[in-house]
Amino acid sequence: MSSEYSDDVKIKVFGDKLESQALQKGCEEDIEKHCRRCIGYPTMRTMNKLKKYGMYTLFFMFIFVVVFQFSEDVRQPAYPVFKRSETNHTNRMIIVVTPTYKRMTRIADMLRMANTLSHVKDLHWIVIEDGNKTIPAVQDILDRTGLPYTYQAHKTALGYPRRGWYQRTMALKLIRSNTSQILGQDHQEGVVYFGDDDNSYDIRLFTDYIRNVKTLGIWAVGLVGGTVVEAPKVVDGKVTAFNVKWNPKRRFAVDMAGFAVNLKVVLNSDAVFGTSCKRGGGAPETCLLEDMGLEREDIEPFGYEKTKDREIFVWHTKTSTPNIVQSKKNQTKPVPPPDTFGYFVEV
Ligand code: UGA
Ligand code: MN
Repeated sequence: MSSEYSDDVKIKVFGDKLESQALQKGCEEDIEKHCRRCIGYPTMRTMNKLKKYGMYTLFFMFIFVVVFQFSEDVRQPAYPVFKRSETNHTNRMIIVVTPTYKRMTRIADMLRMANTLSHVKDLHWIVIEDGNKTIPAVQDILDRTGLPYTYQAHKTALGYPRRGWYQRTMALKLIRSNTSQILGQDHQEGVVYFGDDDNSYDIRLFTDYIRNVKTLGIWAVGLVGGTVVEAPKVVDGKVTAFNVKWNPKRRFAVDMAGFAVNLKVVLNSDAVFGTSCKRGGGAPETCLLEDMGLEREDIEPFGYEKTKDREIFVWHTKTSTPNIVQSKKNQTKPVPPPDTFGYFVEV
């Protein structure tokens, strides 16, 4: 029909009376094209279309967001993740206490630990800096885990050995004074674990062992105490002794990495890491557990069930300080710190 009229005629025709007739005849498209050419704006019809389809789009986006939000647990990642899903019937909060201090390898150590812990649900990480202030690079690592965490600075007080004792004491006080904030709204129970920043942790240590500790859980630790593995000796499900080289007569002959205590045990006592621990021959673990009123009968051993190929879920590794090559010139002058080329390294 358009070929029969010049543009002027069409303007006149649509402008005057024929728009409604055209609509009735199903000629909307002509009106549409014509009006867009005349006035350059979308017509009412276009606006209505936009409104209609816009509403559909919004509706489907809303459904997508809702489904996505609630399907997290069933969604499978497209790549393999070094992780086991938890089948526990408890959501006990795992409270990990980590003393840390400035050294060349600290960021690397904390990064490894953060990568491991970030796979564990329902975990609050308490990190205590042995220093006067918290360090932004450490805080940044903690932020990126997505975990709830507390990061405070408490420099080792006079009389305490510089081995994390004072920092753990401060953490115990914090746990006792801020229990509900640390547990969070969805948790009534918790387990406290002292995880140093330089060990190597299997995710299953948290999901399969620590989460299930009802009073005092104990398990094997690799590369510790001058031997390849320290472990509780278990007979009929009970710990009767400890397979350790160093000081086996201790009531709890276990490294810090080899036990966790239920939060109720911590809250029912005021035990802390004192300035000395004679019963442990210098090691604080047995003193703390004895001061908490625990006995050998309270121990729940983990990971001993198999008769061979038992797995170790925590290793007492140590990151060695790298040998920094210094220039041989001007050896009489004090050695300047190595150049980091603008990168952050704690030297
Ligand atoms: C071993 C045990 O694994 C520790 O749990 C125990 O506290 C320590 O012995 C001890 O003798 O008391 P080890 O590997 O020799 O640990 O010690 P580090 O790993 O160097 O230190 C333990 C924790 O304290 C670490 O998280 C570390 O970052 C921290 N630390 C160490 C400080 O906060 N300040 C320091 O000056 C040194
Ligand atoms: Mn260590």
